[in-house]
Amino acid sequence: MKYVLLGIESSCDETAAAVYTTDNRLLSNVIYSQTDLHKQFGGVVPEIASRAHIEKISHIVASALEQANISLRQVDVIAVTNKPGLPGSLLTGVCFAKGLAYGQNKKIIGVNHLEGHGFSSFLEHNVPFPHLCLTASGGHTSLYLVKDFGDYDIIGITKDDAAGEAFDKIAKLIQLPYPGGPYIEKLAAEVDFIDFFKYSRLKDKNLNFSFSGLKTAVLYNLVSQGAYDLSEKSFLKPDDYTLKQQVASSLLVCITDIFEQRLKLALQQYPEVQAITFVGGVACNKYIKARIETLAHSYHKQFFSPSAQFCTDNAAMIAFVGHYKAQQNKFSDYALDIY
Ligand code: KG4
Ligand code: ZN
Repeated sequence: MKYVLLGIESSCDETAAAVYTTDNRLLSNVIYSQTDLHKQFGGVVPEIASRAHIEKISHIVASALEQANISLRQVDVIAVTNKPGLPGSLLTGVCFAKGLAYGQNKKIIGVNHLEGHGFSSFLEHNVPFPHLCLTASGGHTSLYLVKDFGDYDIIGITKDDAAGEAFDKIAKLIQLPYPGGPYIEKLAAEVDFIDFFKYSRLKDKNLNFSFSGLKTAVLYNLVSQGAYDLSEKSFLKPDDYTLKQQVASSLLVCITDIFEQRLKLALQQYPEVQAITFVGGVACNKYIKARIETLAHSYHKQFFSPSAQFCTDNAAMIAFVGHYKAQQNKFSDYALDIY
């Protein structure tokens, strides 16, 4: 069946809409990022996020249709993120999508945000099955064995913080702006990704992740250098640019080593995989991307990672998942709820 899909994403702090057609064509991809609204708080404030989604969503959807040169009448299916995410943020997108679908007699499909990230590489590449997918974002860090569309096993999850969360929290510790990931990458590149402080790596040999200990390791390393006051909870060297570069570089190398070690283990356990994909906001990081690509090639596997606009939250990936669900006749009903 041929479909014109309208994708809607509002699970966290991006309001996004995209138009995708079955003949594999992304016609538009509009994103409004609320980062500037949350920056002063050092993280996403749920109530502010919900309100901003309400203010923007109608305009963003209209822009996506306009840029695609598609009228609402021509849309067959509305695919909307309904899990997981911030409840108020998810509700905005889902209620908007349901109202539109009901009022205009369209089909609706609820999409798992993580499945969106998981298949985001397909927007630009023909990725073979089976493959390993490493999803690393601000809320999640998981490893999947992907056997087909909608057919995948979670083989590793984070037991505490996500990788992006570790970048953000540690960046905050040394007074870098939110979100920390891009700032960490920039500072680390300036000192050639040298592992100055050698924070400890994960010692257990399984496919799960853990990043909360890393924040503690960074903290105590700063304390030992007289750069952090634990009782006052304050960073004592905000003007020490060299120290910030060294922390950023050591952190980035450490997180990449952890990814690499887990992927090596997974490649040994699942030698049948054809490729590795690396997706989610953290996959914007060129250093991590390059190291995973080198690892994949050393195991004679292909490597795919979306361009930056499809790594961070977007509705194109939601529309894409809606597209293959529509092919499998997996539509939702108008009682679609959030989780
Ligand atoms: O996928 P995403 O936009 O939102 C979630 O679903 O969480 O990911 C946002 C995360 C943030 O933690 C941010 O610091 C991280 O992705 N990030 C990066 C980079 N760009 C964004 N982390 C490391 N290096 C980057 N260049
Ligand atoms: Zn995301």
